[in-house]
Amino acid sequence: MPRRPTDHPADAASAPNSSSAAKPATHPILPPAPDVPTALLGHLSPSQFMRRYWQKKPLLIRQAIPNIEAPLTRDELFELADQDDIEARLITHFRNKWQLEHGPFAPDELPSIKQRAWTLLVQGVDLHDDRARALLDRFRFVPDARLDDLMISYATDGGGVGPHFDSYDVFLLQVKGKRRWRISAQKDLTLQPGLPLKVLQNFEAEEEWVLEPGDMLYLPPHIAHDGIAEGECMTCSIGFRAPSESELTAQFLYHLAERGEAAGKAGALYRDPKQPAVERPAELPAALVERVGAILARIKWNEQDIASFLGTYLSEPKPSVVFDPPQRPLNEARFISSASKTGLRLDRKTNLLYERRFFFVNGEEIAWDGAKKWLFDLANLRCMSAKRFVTLSHDSSVTALLHEWYCAGWIQVGELA
Ligand code: SIN
Ligand code: CO
Repeated sequence: MPRRPTDHPADAASAPNSSSAAKPATHPILPPAPDVPTALLGHLSPSQFMRRYWQKKPLLIRQAIPNIEAPLTRDELFELADQDDIEARLITHFRNKWQLEHGPFAPDELPSIKQRAWTLLVQGVDLHDDRARALLDRFRFVPDARLDDLMISYATDGGGVGPHFDSYDVFLLQVKGKRRWRISAQKDLTLQPGLPLKVLQNFEAEEEWVLEPGDMLYLPPHIAHDGIAEGECMTCSIGFRAPSESELTAQFLYHLAERGEAAGKAGALYRDPKQPAVERPAELPAALVERVGAILARIKWNEQDIASFLGTYLSEPKPSVVFDPPQRPLNEARFISSASKTGLRLDRKTNLLYERRFFFVNGEEIAWDGAKKWLFDLANLRCMSAKRFVTLSHDSSVTALLHEWYCAGWIQVGELA
């Protein structure tokens, strides 16, 4: 259920990974308090925003992040777009013709920055850069289970992806230069046929604004929109994931089957000792249908199975994510001594979720007992202070687990710089 295989705004692909030499964010971003008004949401509190706007109607927020700096420079973005494990797309609108190309793009494969009307979209920048991850973290008033990624677009004057709609919520944050956004709640979402990207056939703008650095536009799903760069510009798009019902069903059944197999319940093969000889071999035997129906009717699940499925499924890293384990890992004793001085933080690619009985880290399920309660803070804050680490460093089950995660590259010693 990656957010945008066929969405947002062009066509396809799954998300990227791997790291550029990103500078660390300057401080950990604490999850926003639900009831404290914030400039980010136009001085609404996250609770008010969620009640009044989330999934309901658009909101323009002037100076959501005053004095914002783009998390990456144009050249850093172009460098990312040249990596194989990054999903990058180039959309050009030259001579009135829409074209789409997929990366990676070597520097000489991008049009000149002097040429008008092209845009480069780079998906999943949060997986590659701590500053991008820190920006995404500002939106953690929405559960991590729904947060998808940070996409950065660069456009030259007149560049954009055409009028379209997305199936997911999005915050469009202007981080450099200006972009004119036009939006519409129109019902007619017919797409122009035969194009390599989703462009609406009949777009009729109802509202329009020019966004400057720090301004942000929230759009719920299915609001038609068109953003055109006025001069060179960069926009960050904070996107969300929403699984389709069919995807959830298919993945849940797969999860149940895997679990059955792990518990040794999947060994029995279909048997038919009473099968008579047939005259019409192509015909599906009625007894086969009946028997399989009986097998399927025995499938049972409870709420815990659903929570376990969701936790493992939603914390699973995107397919191309590769962690970078330390080249010469500290042994456990040294790891403890180092973390006692500097604390720990989750790697920017790590997904750590939890519910009543389990933690889910990068697709793995871990039962929590009393000793692992501290993981709640690590999951919510994405870091652990040295002081906190010291209080639990006497518990070897905890330090052994954290050391394992450290060796896998899932956590790092040291809080944010
Ligand atoms: C979008 O419209 O969803 C984002 C496009 C962009 O940043 O150019
Ligand atoms: Co869009």
